[in-house]
Amino acid sequence: MTSAKVSRSILQLILSEHQYMRHTYEQLKMIQDPAELEKSVRKWIEFICLHGHKEEIAFYPAVEKYLENGKHVVEHSLNEHRKLDKELKLLLEMVPEQENSRDDNTYWKQIRESMKPLLHHLDDEERKIIIPLQSIINEQEQERLAGEFDRAESVASAKPHPEMSKKAEEAPMENIQIGLKEKQDL
Ligand SMILES: [Fe+2]
Ligand SMILES: [Fe+2]
Repeated sequence: MTSAKVSRSILQLILSEHQYMRHTYEQLKMIQDPAELEKSVRKWIEFICLHGHKEEIAFYPAVEKYLENGKHVVEHSLNEHRKLDKELKLLLEMVPEQENSRDDNTYWKQIRESMKPLLHHLDDEERKIIIPLQSIINEQEQERLAGEFDRAESVASAKPHPEMSKKAEEAPMENIQIGLKEKQDL
């Protein structure tokens, strides 16, 4: 019996990871216990960082190739990743206060400060990259890139790196060097 082959798409994969980030933020708001909040925020930051670094290694080089203004779009996105990394790094250095009121609380203030560049970037990336590419990249190439995106997890860093290169030609290799070094040091 042959099983139906379900093809995966890089664009769907990225969109679903974006939805997960947005959804997780909504879930963070429900958490009352500070220790549990800190644990969930750390996992959320890891997911966001891995996603961005996988994009830089395995997706942005394709964006540069397929979009007419690809290099400009990629460098704009790299800039947004670095801005977001800066806020996530600050958040990672903090611990939640015992009193977890979301209005008057420096930890929650920093979560919201991180959400601003995150939401802006997700919307921007979907509008300027994902939607235009839907009619440009064929199904076979979308599937191949989805595989590359998955494989990039073995070399990508799960930590924020605001200092990393914003240049399209340097970012993928710098990502791999930093990611591999962190995995060796574990
Ligand atoms: Fe993304
Ligand atoms: Fe991104």
